[in-house]
Amino acid sequence: MEEHGWPLWDLRIRTPRLVLRPPREADLSRLVQVIRGGIHEPGVTPFRFDFCCQPPEEIFLGTARFYWRSMAEWKPEKWSLILAVEEEGTIVGVQGVDAQDFSELRTVATGSWLGRSFQGRGIGKEMRHGVLHLAFAGLGAAVALSGARVGNAQSLGVSHALGYRENGLKPMMFGQQLGEEIGLRLDRADWERSERPPIVIDGLDGCRSMFGESLPSG
Ligand SMILES: CC(C)(COP(=O)(O)OP(=O)(O)OC[C@H]1O[C@@H](n2cnc3c(N)ncnc32)[C@H](O)[C@@H]1OP(=O)(O)O)[C@@H](O)C(=O)NCCC(=O)NCCS
Repeated sequence: MEEHGWPLWDLRIRTPRLVLRPPREADLSRLVQVIRGGIHEPGVTPFRFDFCCQPPEEIFLGTARFYWRSMAEWKPEKWSLILAVEEEGTIVGVQGVDAQDFSELRTVATGSWLGRSFQGRGIGKEMRHGVLHLAFAGLGAAVALSGARVGNAQSLGVSHALGYRENGLKPMMFGQQLGEEIGLRLDRADWERSERPPIVIDGLDGCRSMFGESLPSG
């Protein structure tokens, strides 16, 4: 294994079509290109912070800060993993997963986006399968949470297809817009029962301690 000081860089989640991996600094401009290409229809934003509708130079700075912050602030008690999603070597979006007090709560929360031209082909479901495999099989999670703005049919479609149950509504600001978020929850037993594609995780043992207490892989 290459010793480069940041063990997470060796982590790879491989699904039938995709590779999910922490981006390197050299990937930032590729990520920014996808963001600038558009993520959602103008008007109604699915995000609390509408990072894709900022001026072009802000998108680069914001993406870089988001990337560095996730590494600089990483602690086993509170972490936020950004995974670039690649399809045949092309970066198509990001799958995030984060947790606080994971060793006690065994609970993760996920969020994701794809460039518009990559949406609607099942990639969103496949990358969620990938990150859930990391959480449940790799890290021993008990619960995975997600959330989607009311009316976000694609995001709700992914969660429903993977077996999440709706978990209440709460008012939320989406940028400057007041909206409501539908909470979604997937318990380990439902995940175990669900149909899943074959997924392989590489490089987890070298960074397992960064996610909280050392847990056996499932
Ligand atoms: C959300 C997102 C990641 C999903 O990825 P995707 O590749 O487009 O989604 P998939 O093709 O894997 O699956 C979408 C599911 O929703 C369903 N769906 C999509 N549009 C739908 C609609 N209008 N009504 C009902 N279901 C719909 C699809 O049928 C599919 O479910 P199925 O396979 O069970 O039929 C992607 O669309 C995206 O980046 N959207 C903009 C950003 C965003 O909303 N991010 C999430 C913030 S919470």
